Amino acid sequence: MSVVIAVPKERTPGERRIAIVPEVAQKWVAAGHEVRIEASAGTESFYPDDAFARAGAKLLPDRRTLLDGAEIVLTVQPPAPELLETLAEGAMVVGFMNPARNLDSVRRLRDRKLTAFALELIPRITRAQSMDALSSQATVGGYAAVLLGAGSCPKFFPMLTTAAGTIRPATVLVLGAGVAGLMAIATARRLGAQVEAYDVRRAAGEQVRSLGAKFLELEINAEGAGGYARELTAEEKAKEQEMVSAALTRADVVVTTANVPGRRAPRLVAAATVARMRPGAVIVDLAAESGGNCELTQPGATVRSGDVMVLGPTNLPAQVPFHASQMYAKNLQAFLGLLIDRDGRRVTDFSDEILSGSLLVAAGEVRHEPTRTALAGAAA
Ligand SMILES: NC(=O)c1ccc[n+]([C@@H]2O[C@H](COP(=O)([O-])OP(=O)(O)OC[C@H]3O[C@@H](n4cnc5c(N)ncnc54)[C@H](O)[C@@H]3O)[C@@H](O)[C@H]2O)c1
Repeated sequence: MSVVIAVPKERTPGERRIAIVPEVAQKWVAAGHEVRIEASAGTESFYPDDAFARAGAKLLPDRRTLLDGAEIVLTVQPPAPELLETLAEGAMVVGFMNPARNLDSVRRLRDRKLTAFALELIPRITRAQSMDALSSQATVGGYAAVLLGAGSCPKFFPMLTTAAGTIRPATVLVLGAGVAGLMAIATARRLGAQVEAYDVRRAAGEQVRSLGAKFLELEINAEGAGGYARELTAEEKAKEQEMVSAALTRADVVVTTANVPGRRAPRLVAAATVARMRPGAVIVDLAAESGGNCELTQPGATVRSGDVMVLGPTNLPAQVPFHASQMYAKNLQAFLGLLIDRDGRRVTDFSDEILSGSLLVAAGEVRHEPTRTALAGAAA
């Protein structure tokens, strides 16, 4: 048995990634499946059509032919309603779905009895690490954020001893030391900056220090019942704010990555603190799309406030499209390993924890509770 896998060209403005790369296409072709790619889908990420052709994929010039009979469609950005219009009942779509912001697409998935898996909903268990597209793309984002910050910073990052005098290294502050933050720390360290970082999770401290950065810590023990962090008291919160503000005023580049899943990003940088920052300082707010960690952030724009630049990039992984696509394609390859069985058939039993966790819509039935609630609310 074989499956028809189709990859359309991404149409979201600024999106330069593609959901498959020739190496992965070749694996599926070798396993007996049909891989279809929309012509020029890989151009922006530098995977040319002929590389896909050599891998045994079929290049198709128009979308209608591409999607006619497609059984699994792979995307990076959530599929637009128009794309879903062309799919036959029962087809599966796999990619980032961002359902809360794409309710029209969810309705179309539902009404056309399609099935969709949202990569951002994959449970973060050890077995799913190879499929964790949130992590792979956050890694790219953390790297790109530091380069963006370095490019806008009027200073060198490394310490230099030259005939023209000694240059002190730049100070980089990273707020939020998850996947993106740790990559930002590593990248800034490699460029020679002095790096400080803060995260509400104390456990992040060890990882931060192992990268050669300083972890900012409060002199309090916030360990509560059962080893979980307890809520900080108002007084402790004020101390935390004071510590972060002091670090902000000595930083040349600040990369903020703090997020709380399903919630608005926490506000860590007040406008009043920006006013006290060093002249020429740069803030790169990776949480711009989820509300911003800085009060002044405008998603997709650069704001100048006094002598401080506040950058709110919205799709940094797309700025490193070759490797971002490679990592994403590998994540999808691992995920499809669950979705296609040993006999080369699409599985119909989604009871596997990873499949059930990421199942957004199953043959027209919306399975993700928060999305069902959002749809009901929108209809009311
Ligand atoms: N498969 C797995 O086991 C797996 C996969 C991915 C990530 N993780 C872990 O999950 C954690 C976070 O992942 P992520 O990067 O996707 O998280 P994220 O993008 O949701 O958040 C980024 C960081 O912001 C921090 N943060 C939130 N509020 C903050 C505040 N007020 N001040 C400072 N920092 C704040 C979070 O603790 C987190 O580290 C990491 O420890 C990571 O190693 C585990």
